[in-house]
Amino acid sequence: MTAAPAATGGHASHGGGRGDGPRHVAIIMDGNGRWAQRKGLPRVAGHRAGAEAVRKTLQAAADAGVEVLTIYAFSSENWRRSAEEVSDLKGLMRFYLERELATLEKERVQLRIIGDYRAFGPELSARLEKAVERTRTNTRLTLVIALNYGSRAEIAAACRSLATEARDGKIDPSAIDEEVVGRALQTSDWPELDLLIRTSGEQRLSNFLLWQAAYAELLFVDTLWPDFDEAAFNAALASYAARHRRFGGR
Ligand code: IPE
Ligand code: IPE
Ligand code: MG
Repeated sequence: MTAAPAATGGHASHGGGRGDGPRHVAIIMDGNGRWAQRKGLPRVAGHRAGAEAVRKTLQAAADAGVEVLTIYAFSSENWRRSAEEVSDLKGLMRFYLERELATLEKERVQLRIIGDYRAFGPELSARLEKAVERTRTNTRLTLVIALNYGSRAEIAAACRSLATEARDGKIDPSAIDEEVVGRALQTSDWPELDLLIRTSGEQRLSNFLLWQAAYAELLFVDTLWPDFDEAAFNAALASYAARHRRFGGR
């Protein structure tokens, strides 16, 4: 892999972690609805199968030595879906959070959330916060779940907080550079994004990690998310390993 440049816009570097693989992988888990439709099942069945794909992918990522896995579970635009589908998704989140917490503990996975998850209500918020707290000291892999996340909203919030600091004399506007902006984002604790995967054949970012994806390798696969598994994740890693990252150099 090509070495990262000195300044990449965040506080941490690209690649170069445990071996040659990506340190930070993100996934837009798309295609649950189409998977269900093809089987003549309700959409919720697709979301349920999608949750199983998360388990397999998480295991594969941990086995491969990935440090951070960020998954897009609910976008700030997904409220446009029917009340029934949103309610089904909330129910599944609650169910899997309870069921998988012990696994996260056992596998030493740290759970973190980005996005305005409080919009899902006090009960689910409290469960999420409890799971984050319970797994706080785990270091094998960090699983970041994007819930009610929108990249533009995240960047706007960073701008607001930096503007407030400038108004209050805590930061000089001329000191606001890429690194400072990167640190004001919700992803500031983690290494730069190395690989962004989207399933289901769609080739767009849908408001996910727009800033963070600046130099990420993008991989679009036709597999519908519920069919994604360890082999599919390992194939994605192989595709990444075959690429030549240049970061503007040669
Ligand atoms: C992704 O699958 C899951 C969420 C957005 C919550 P979709 O539900 O978008 O599935 P398709 O795109 O309709 O097939
Ligand atoms: C993106 O998928 C959001 C998640 C996977 C959670 P969508 O299915 O919502 O994206 P669009 O609507 O096809 O762009
Ligand atoms: Mg979709």
